[in-house]
Amino acid sequence: MTTIHSKISATGSYLPKKILTNLELAKTVETSDEWIMDRTGIKQRHIAAEGEVTSDLASNAALKALEQAGIKAEEIELIILATTTPDLTFPATATTVQAKIGAKNAFAFDIQAVCSGFVFAIATADNFIKSGQVKNALVIGADTLSRIVDWSDRNTCVLFGDGAGAVLLQATTEENRGIISSDLHSDGTLNDILKTSGGPASNQKTGFIEMSGKEVFKHAVEKMSKSVLSVLSKAGLSIKDIDLLVPHQANARILNAVATRLELSEEQVIITVQNHANTSAASIPLALDCANSIGKIKKGDLVVLEALGGGLTWGSIALRW
Ligand SMILES: CC(C)(COP(=O)(O)OP(=O)(O)OC[C@H]1O[C@@H](n2cnc3c(N)ncnc32)[C@H](O)[C@@H]1OP(=O)(O)O)[C@@H](O)C(=O)NCCC(=O)NCCS
Repeated sequence: MTTIHSKISATGSYLPKKILTNLELAKTVETSDEWIMDRTGIKQRHIAAEGEVTSDLASNAALKALEQAGIKAEEIELIILATTTPDLTFPATATTVQAKIGAKNAFAFDIQAVCSGFVFAIATADNFIKSGQVKNALVIGADTLSRIVDWSDRNTCVLFGDGAGAVLLQATTEENRGIISSDLHSDGTLNDILKTSGGPASNQKTGFIEMSGKEVFKHAVEKMSKSVLSVLSKAGLSIKDIDLLVPHQANARILNAVATRLELSEEQVIITVQNHANTSAASIPLALDCANSIGKIKKGDLVVLEALGGGLTWGSIALRW
């Protein structure tokens, strides 16, 4: 790999201060800590404060990644923000992040691929870097799902939370380091199983999350497992080469089912969903930052990121840390 490609050189994350535990949630909707833990592995979720918006979460995570890398915001040439919960219908929330962190030399745009957004955003930024157009890119996943959850619907409200994660993606010619391959898919015929009940062009409302839980579960296990095998095959590697899987943190049962199918051990799969629930596009960079900060990822490790979300959209990234 002597040609220009991209590597993740820093990570950052941010969770809002307010924590909503299962026990607290059980006071407002007919559910229990036992049910939520048993079906999802989730213990708590973070909720953005009044007035705290997606760009605030994203900016906090981005600044932490920049601090870890020791580079200035002015050096960033591209910001891609994966989000389903933009501050406004337009402009792109990425431009608000650009202004908030002072990345005045960057071009910035949002990607909307719901829970797969971060994987799609990494693949997109990687292409800008491989083409030689950009050397330093911030790729962020941030969502305030608490704003589009129907808090009276126990089928969905127990599953989601707010958060943000960011990585600095930099051009490199280092061999055996960085993004190796990506595998992206969409199937719009499955729109209906995971969507919101509103949108600007449909009813001029934001809408709330609606989901056929069992259907999504089935597709998630099957499609994410296949995508991991596909991204490895594109890289000329196989499942036995994986050191670490960093999945979209939707539900511990989905993650365990994927791990079992792929015959990965518990130690090889990063699971943080218990602490922050499903934060959509933020969940992979949150899990990645957690693994990075506790020293779980070693230089040279083969890491695979994988996600599935509304659309349906799904995919994976294989990279050498
Ligand atoms: C949502 C999910 C946890 C539900 O688990 P499940 O085992 O499929 O549960 P079911 O939908 O069959 O519901 C079983 C029962 O629990 C009830 N139930 C649903 N939510 C509940 C809750 N929060 N608390 C208590 N009971 C609940 C249902 O009403 C149903 O009761 P019934 O049998 O009397 O009708 C599971 O389907 C799932 O994780 N799906 C994927 C969701 C996801 O990750 N989406 C995002 C992907 S990006």
